[in-house]
Amino acid sequence: MNQPTPEQLQIFLDIATEAAMEAGTILQAYWGKLETVEEKGRPGDLVTAADKDAEAAVLKVLRRHVPEHSILAEESGQIGDDNSEYLWAIDPLDGTTNYAHQYPIAAVSIGLLIAGMPQVGVIYNPFREELFRAAKGLGATRNRRPIQVSKTSDLSKSLLVSGFAYDRRETSDNNYAEFCYLTHLTQGVRRSGSASLDLADVACGRLDGYWERGLSPWDISAGIVLVEEAGGKVTAYNGSPLVIASGRILATNSQIHDNLSKELLQVPPLSSWK
Ligand code: IPD
Ligand code: CA
Ligand code: CA
Repeated sequence: MNQPTPEQLQIFLDIATEAAMEAGTILQAYWGKLETVEEKGRPGDLVTAADKDAEAAVLKVLRRHVPEHSILAEESGQIGDDNSEYLWAIDPLDGTTNYAHQYPIAAVSIGLLIAGMPQVGVIYNPFREELFRAAKGLGATRNRRPIQVSKTSDLSKSLLVSGFAYDRRETSDNNYAEFCYLTHLTQGVRRSGSASLDLADVACGRLDGYWERGLSPWDISAGIVLVEEAGGKVTAYNGSPLVIASGRILATNSQIHDNLSKELLQVPPLSSWK
């Protein structure tokens, strides 16, 4: 694989930005006007016309600029050659539950994996008009200004974020015990309902760390680039290299990484919270 030049990465970043802005306009247009909200399978796993139309807008932009690239989009699945070195991972509306309740924490998330590694990421929250962009070696920005992770080094002084996957009622590996334990050890653990914005908030230093399980590549690919380019660290729970397909991620400001990893590996059972 030939690593793209910085100029090529910048072009991909601008394509992702164009697509995210178009999708964001659609999310704004549907805001408060949804006629139906469907469940996709698991209880609470929602899909709306806004998800579908926003995804169609992203696909249209990508087809226009990079028709040779493959796509993995939440609502459409895999499009194009499985073996393509270029794979766009798209969540047209990350935070659908929030959106359906008119709770304005939701975003378009567009990542580009090159030979399996996330290298370009754009996350756009149209309700706060916050545009997060990053590409490997080019840094990370919020509304075009450089961002950096926080400097918090003490886990007990950190503010974290996490979330719960839609299979949470079907498995005891549902992150409830981790959430309680880390709430006890830190200044707090938030649950925003948008994995991509959780990663963006770690990247811009509002939050010090994020972990979650049961995630899909479209939830995290863009955010991984943001956190890494903002000076943070992204790994598996145990600190080993991240495997995106595992659905488990630990992303921090790098300072609290080892301690948070250690605590995640020794979470006491829920029954101990009496
Ligand atoms: C969900 C959000 C949420 C996370 C879930 C995701 P969706 O994505 O990112 O924060 O906890 O696991 O599935 O369904 O709103 O696109
Ligand atoms: Ca999502
Ligand atoms: Ca989604």
